Amino acid sequence: MSTPKSVAPLGVFDSGLGGLTVVRQIQKVYPHLSIIYYGDTARVPYGTKSPQTVTHFSRQIIEFLIAQDIQAIMVACNTASATAVPVLKDEYPVPIHGVVEPGAKAAFHATQTGKIGVIGTNSTIRSSVYKSALKRLDESLEVTVQPCPLFVPIVEEGWETHQVAEITVREYLAQMIEQKIDTLILGCTHYPLLSETLRKVLPDSITIIDSGVAAANAVENIVESPMEVIPKYKYYVSDTPERFSEIGTRFLGHPMENVYYFDVDRPWTAADIQSAPKVTP
Ligand code: DGL
Repeated sequence: MSTPKSVAPLGVFDSGLGGLTVVRQIQKVYPHLSIIYYGDTARVPYGTKSPQTVTHFSRQIIEFLIAQDIQAIMVACNTASATAVPVLKDEYPVPIHGVVEPGAKAAFHATQTGKIGVIGTNSTIRSSVYKSALKRLDESLEVTVQPCPLFVPIVEEGWETHQVAEITVREYLAQMIEQKIDTLILGCTHYPLLSETLRKVLPDSITIIDSGVAAANAVENIVESPMEVIPKYKYYVSDTPERFSEIGTRFLGHPMENVYYFDVDRPWTAADIQSAPKVTP
Protein backbone atom coordinates (compact mmCIF):
# COMPACT_ATOMS: atom_id res chain seq x y z
CA MET A 1 0.00 0.00 0.00
CA SER A 2 1.39 3.38 -0.89
CA THR A 3 1.99 5.81 1.96
CA PRO A 4 -0.09 9.00 1.81
CA LYS A 5 2.15 11.73 0.55
CA SER A 6 2.10 15.08 2.23
CA VAL A 7 2.59 18.09 0.00
CA ALA A 8 2.88 21.77 0.82
CA PRO A 9 -0.33 23.77 1.23
CA LEU A 10 -1.80 26.17 -1.28
CA GLY A 11 -1.80 29.83 -0.22
CA VAL A 12 -5.00 31.73 -1.01
CA PHE A 13 -5.86 35.35 -0.31
CA ASP A 14 -8.53 37.97 -0.74
CA SER A 15 -9.44 41.33 0.76
CA GLY A 16 -11.97 39.60 3.02
CA LEU A 17 -14.60 36.93 2.80
CA GLY A 18 -14.94 36.71 -0.97
CA GLY A 19 -12.02 34.35 -1.52
CA LEU A 20 -13.83 31.74 0.56
CA THR A 21 -15.97 31.15 -2.54
CA VAL A 22 -12.77 29.92 -4.18
CA VAL A 23 -11.72 27.92 -1.10
CA ARG A 24 -15.10 26.16 -1.06
CA GLN A 25 -14.63 25.03 -4.64
CA ILE A 26 -11.00 23.95 -4.08
CA GLN A 27 -12.10 21.91 -1.05
CA LYS A 28 -14.76 20.24 -3.19
CA VAL A 29 -12.46 19.36 -6.06
CA TYR A 30 -9.24 18.70 -4.10
CA PRO A 31 -10.38 17.38 -0.71
CA HIS A 32 -6.86 16.46 0.44
CA LEU A 33 -5.11 19.72 -0.33
CA SER A 34 -4.17 21.84 2.68
CA ILE A 35 -4.91 25.56 2.42
CA ILE A 36 -3.61 28.66 4.18
CA TYR A 37 -6.01 31.56 3.65
CA TYR A 38 -5.48 35.24 4.37
CA GLY A 39 -8.49 37.60 4.44
CA ASP A 40 -7.40 41.22 4.71
CA THR A 41 -10.53 42.15 6.66
CA ALA A 42 -8.94 45.29 8.12
CA ARG A 43 -8.36 46.83 4.70
CA VAL A 44 -11.35 45.57 2.69
CA PRO A 45 -12.50 46.81 0.17
CA TYR A 46 -9.64 46.70 -2.31
CA GLY A 47 -11.91 47.57 -5.22
CA THR A 48 -11.99 51.29 -4.48
CA LYS A 49 -8.22 51.63 -3.94
CA SER A 50 -5.46 52.45 -6.39
CA PRO A 51 -3.49 49.70 -8.19
CA GLN A 52 -0.38 50.81 -6.25
CA THR A 53 -2.09 50.36 -2.90
CA VAL A 54 -3.54 46.96 -3.83
CA THR A 55 -0.12 45.86 -5.11
CA HIS A 56 1.48 46.95 -1.83
CA PHE A 57 -1.13 45.03 0.23
CA SER A 58 -0.77 41.98 -2.03
CA ARG A 59 3.01 42.01 -1.66
CA GLN A 60 2.72 41.98 2.14
CA ILE A 61 0.31 39.02 2.04
CA ILE A 62 2.35 37.07 -0.52
CA GLU A 63 5.44 37.40 1.73
CA PHE A 64 3.41 36.21 4.73
CA LEU A 65 2.19 33.14 2.78
CA ILE A 66 5.63 32.33 1.37
CA ALA A 67 7.03 32.35 4.92
CA GLN A 68 4.77 29.35 5.55
CA ASP A 69 6.22 27.20 2.77
CA ILE A 70 3.24 27.12 0.49
CA GLN A 71 3.68 25.49 -2.94
CA ALA A 72 1.75 28.11 -4.94
CA ILE A 73 -0.54 31.09 -4.44
CA MET A 74 -4.06 31.53 -5.73
CA VAL A 75 -5.03 35.18 -5.68
CA ALA A 76 -8.74 34.71 -4.93
CA CYS A 77 -9.46 38.36 -5.53
CA ASN A 78 -10.23 39.80 -8.94
CA THR A 79 -9.06 43.27 -7.95
CA ALA A 80 -5.62 41.98 -6.92
CA SER A 81 -5.57 39.61 -9.92
CA ALA A 82 -6.23 42.56 -12.21
CA THR A 83 -3.82 45.03 -10.68
CA ALA A 84 -1.13 43.27 -8.59
CA VAL A 85 -0.63 39.86 -10.25
CA PRO A 86 0.80 41.26 -13.51
CA VAL A 87 3.37 43.23 -11.45
CA LEU A 88 4.22 40.58 -8.83
CA LYS A 89 3.94 37.23 -10.57
CA ASP A 90 7.59 37.02 -11.57
CA GLU A 91 9.00 38.56 -8.39
CA TYR A 92 8.73 35.49 -6.17
CA PRO A 93 10.01 31.90 -6.29
CA VAL A 94 6.50 30.38 -6.12
CA PRO A 95 3.87 30.38 -8.86
CA ILE A 96 1.22 33.10 -8.38
CA HIS A 97 -2.10 32.64 -10.18
CA GLY A 98 -5.07 34.95 -10.54
CA VAL A 99 -8.72 34.34 -11.36
CA VAL A 100 -9.15 36.46 -14.49
CA GLU A 101 -7.91 34.14 -17.27
CA PRO A 102 -9.88 31.06 -16.08
CA GLY A 103 -13.04 33.21 -15.73
CA ALA A 104 -12.67 34.65 -19.23
CA LYS A 105 -12.06 31.19 -20.71
CA ALA A 106 -15.14 29.72 -19.00
CA ALA A 107 -17.30 32.57 -20.36
CA PHE A 108 -15.87 32.15 -23.85
CA HIS A 109 -16.86 28.47 -23.79
CA ALA A 110 -20.32 29.20 -22.36
CA THR A 111 -21.56 31.99 -24.64
CA GLN A 112 -23.80 31.16 -27.59
CA THR A 113 -24.44 34.69 -28.83
CA GLY A 114 -21.03 36.22 -28.10
CA LYS A 115 -22.62 38.85 -25.82
CA ILE A 116 -20.83 38.72 -22.49
CA GLY A 117 -21.32 40.95 -19.46
CA VAL A 118 -18.66 41.48 -16.79
CA ILE A 119 -19.35 42.89 -13.33
CA GLY A 120 -16.64 43.69 -10.80
CA THR A 121 -15.20 46.31 -8.49
CA ASN A 122 -14.29 49.77 -9.80
CA SER A 123 -10.61 48.82 -10.03
CA THR A 124 -11.21 45.55 -11.85
CA ILE A 125 -13.52 47.15 -14.40
CA ARG A 126 -11.22 50.14 -14.85
CA SER A 127 -8.27 47.83 -15.53
CA SER A 128 -10.11 46.27 -18.53
CA VAL A 129 -8.42 42.94 -17.84
CA TYR A 130 -11.53 40.89 -18.58
CA LYS A 131 -12.25 42.74 -21.79
CA SER A 132 -8.66 42.21 -22.96
CA ALA A 133 -8.64 38.52 -21.95
CA LEU A 134 -11.95 37.92 -23.76
CA LYS A 135 -10.86 39.79 -26.87
CA ARG A 136 -7.65 37.74 -26.95
CA LEU A 137 -9.82 34.62 -27.06
CA ASP A 138 -12.15 36.00 -29.74
CA GLU A 139 -11.95 39.53 -31.13
CA SER A 140 -15.63 39.45 -32.18
CA LEU A 141 -17.04 39.02 -28.66
CA GLU A 142 -19.27 41.88 -27.52
CA VAL A 143 -18.27 42.73 -23.97
CA THR A 144 -20.38 44.95 -21.70
CA VAL A 145 -18.94 45.95 -18.32
CA GLN A 146 -20.46 47.34 -15.15
CA PRO A 147 -18.75 48.20 -11.86
CA CYS A 148 -20.90 47.26 -8.84
CA PRO A 149 -19.12 48.89 -5.87
CA LEU A 150 -21.99 48.39 -3.42
CA PHE A 151 -21.97 44.58 -3.70
CA VAL A 152 -18.87 44.04 -1.53
CA PRO A 153 -20.13 46.01 1.52
CA ILE A 154 -23.52 44.27 1.19
CA VAL A 155 -21.83 40.86 1.30
CA GLU A 156 -19.43 41.80 4.11
CA GLU A 157 -22.51 42.96 6.07
CA GLY A 158 -24.17 39.56 5.54
CA TRP A 159 -27.07 41.13 3.60
CA GLU A 160 -26.80 39.05 0.46
CA THR A 161 -30.49 38.04 0.40
CA HIS A 162 -31.82 41.26 1.98
CA GLN A 163 -34.12 43.48 -0.11
CA VAL A 164 -31.31 46.05 -0.25
CA ALA A 165 -29.30 43.46 -2.21
CA GLU A 166 -32.18 42.84 -4.61
CA ILE A 167 -32.79 46.54 -5.32
CA THR A 168 -29.05 47.08 -5.88
CA VAL A 169 -28.72 44.07 -8.20
CA ARG A 170 -31.73 45.27 -10.27
CA GLU A 171 -30.26 48.75 -10.58
CA TYR A 172 -26.76 47.65 -11.60
CA LEU A 173 -27.82 44.93 -14.03
CA ALA A 174 -30.76 46.61 -15.79
CA GLN A 175 -28.67 47.78 -18.72
CA MET A 176 -26.98 44.42 -19.29
CA ILE A 177 -30.32 42.65 -19.27
CA GLU A 178 -31.58 45.16 -21.84
CA GLN A 179 -28.52 44.53 -23.99
CA LYS A 180 -29.41 40.83 -23.99
CA ILE A 181 -26.12 39.39 -22.79
CA ASP A 182 -26.30 35.58 -22.55
CA THR A 183 -23.32 35.14 -20.18
CA LEU A 184 -22.38 37.11 -17.09
CA ILE A 185 -18.94 36.90 -15.49
CA LEU A 186 -18.90 37.51 -11.73
CA GLY A 187 -15.59 39.35 -11.80
CA CYS A 188 -15.33 39.63 -8.03
CA THR A 189 -15.03 36.73 -5.63
CA HIS A 190 -17.52 38.34 -3.25
CA TYR A 191 -20.31 38.21 -5.82
CA PRO A 192 -21.07 34.45 -5.74
CA LEU A 193 -22.41 35.07 -2.23
CA LEU A 194 -25.13 37.08 -4.01
CA SER A 195 -25.99 34.16 -6.34
CA GLU A 196 -29.48 33.63 -4.98
CA THR A 197 -30.41 37.29 -5.49
CA LEU A 198 -28.67 37.47 -8.87
CA ARG A 199 -30.57 34.38 -10.04
CA LYS A 200 -33.85 35.93 -8.89
CA VAL A 201 -33.25 39.08 -10.92
CA LEU A 202 -31.56 37.72 -14.06
CA PRO A 203 -33.49 35.97 -16.85
CA ASP A 204 -32.89 32.18 -16.87
CA SER A 205 -31.31 32.54 -20.31
CA ILE A 206 -28.22 34.20 -18.78
CA THR A 207 -25.45 31.82 -17.73
CA ILE A 208 -23.56 33.00 -14.66
CA ILE A 209 -19.82 32.38 -14.65
CA ASP A 210 -18.10 32.39 -11.28
CA SER A 211 -14.48 33.33 -11.99
CA GLY A 212 -13.41 31.86 -8.64
CA VAL A 213 -14.95 28.48 -9.43
CA ALA A 214 -13.31 28.53 -12.86
CA ALA A 215 -9.96 29.30 -11.21
CA ALA A 216 -10.41 26.64 -8.54
CA ASN A 217 -11.20 24.07 -11.21
CA ALA A 218 -7.95 24.99 -12.93
CA VAL A 219 -5.95 24.40 -9.72
CA GLU A 220 -5.12 20.89 -10.96
CA ASN A 221 -2.79 22.39 -13.51
CA ILE A 222 -0.94 24.52 -10.99
CA VAL A 223 -0.56 22.49 -7.79
CA GLU A 224 0.46 19.06 -6.68
CA SER A 225 -2.54 17.58 -4.91
CA PRO A 226 -1.90 14.95 -2.25
CA MET A 227 -3.84 11.71 -1.91
CA GLU A 228 -5.48 10.34 1.21
CA VAL A 229 -4.13 12.78 3.74
CA ILE A 230 -6.27 14.78 6.10
CA PRO A 231 -5.93 18.36 4.92
CA LYS A 232 -5.21 21.24 7.28
CA TYR A 233 -6.99 24.53 6.81
CA LYS A 234 -5.75 27.70 8.45
CA TYR A 235 -7.46 31.05 8.07
CA TYR A 236 -5.80 34.34 8.99
CA VAL A 237 -7.56 37.70 9.21
CA SER A 238 -6.22 41.20 9.78
CA ASP A 239 -9.16 42.43 11.86
CA THR A 240 -11.81 41.15 14.26
CA PRO A 241 -12.94 37.79 12.96
CA GLU A 242 -16.49 37.41 14.32
CA ARG A 243 -18.33 38.14 11.11
CA PHE A 244 -15.68 36.37 9.03
CA SER A 245 -16.07 33.16 11.07
CA GLU A 246 -19.85 33.40 11.17
CA ILE A 247 -20.44 34.04 7.48
CA GLY A 248 -17.49 31.82 6.52
CA THR A 249 -18.85 28.86 8.48
CA ARG A 250 -22.26 29.29 6.88
CA PHE A 251 -20.73 29.64 3.49
CA LEU A 252 -18.11 26.87 3.60
CA GLY A 253 -20.62 24.50 5.15
CA HIS A 254 -18.28 23.49 7.98
CA PRO A 255 -17.04 25.24 11.09
CA MET A 256 -13.95 27.37 10.64
CA GLU A 257 -11.89 25.95 13.46
CA ASN A 258 -8.56 27.56 12.84
CA VAL A 259 -9.00 31.30 12.48
CA TYR A 260 -6.02 33.39 13.62
CA TYR A 261 -5.39 37.10 13.84
CA PHE A 262 -2.31 38.35 12.03
CA ASP A 263 -1.49 41.87 10.85
CA VAL A 264 0.84 41.76 7.84
CA ASP A 265 1.17 45.54 7.93
CA ARG A 266 3.44 45.46 11.01
CA PRO A 267 7.01 44.18 11.05
CA TRP A 268 6.86 40.44 11.81
CA THR A 269 9.06 37.36 12.04
CA ALA A 270 8.41 33.66 11.41
CA ALA A 271 8.09 33.23 15.19
CA ASP A 272 5.21 35.73 15.23
CA ILE A 273 3.30 33.54 12.77
CA GLN A 274 3.74 30.54 15.10
CA SER A 275 2.37 32.51 18.03
CA ALA A 276 -0.50 34.24 16.16
CA PRO A 277 -3.50 34.34 18.48
CA LYS A 278 -6.23 31.89 17.63
CA VAL A 279 -9.55 33.67 17.53
CA THR A 280 -11.88 30.68 17.25
CA PRO A 281 -12.50 28.36 20.19
N1 DGL B 1 -13.24 39.96 -3.58
C1 DGL B 1 -12.40 40.88 -4.21
C2 DGL B 1 -12.48 40.89 -5.71
O1 DGL B 1 -12.66 39.87 -6.25
C3 DGL B 1 -12.25 42.20 -3.60
C4 DGL B 1 -13.41 43.04 -3.40
C5 DGL B 1 -12.98 44.29 -2.68
O2 DGL B 1 -12.25 44.16 -1.72
O3 DGL B 1 -13.34 45.38 -3.13
O4 DGL B 1 -12.34 41.87 -6.35
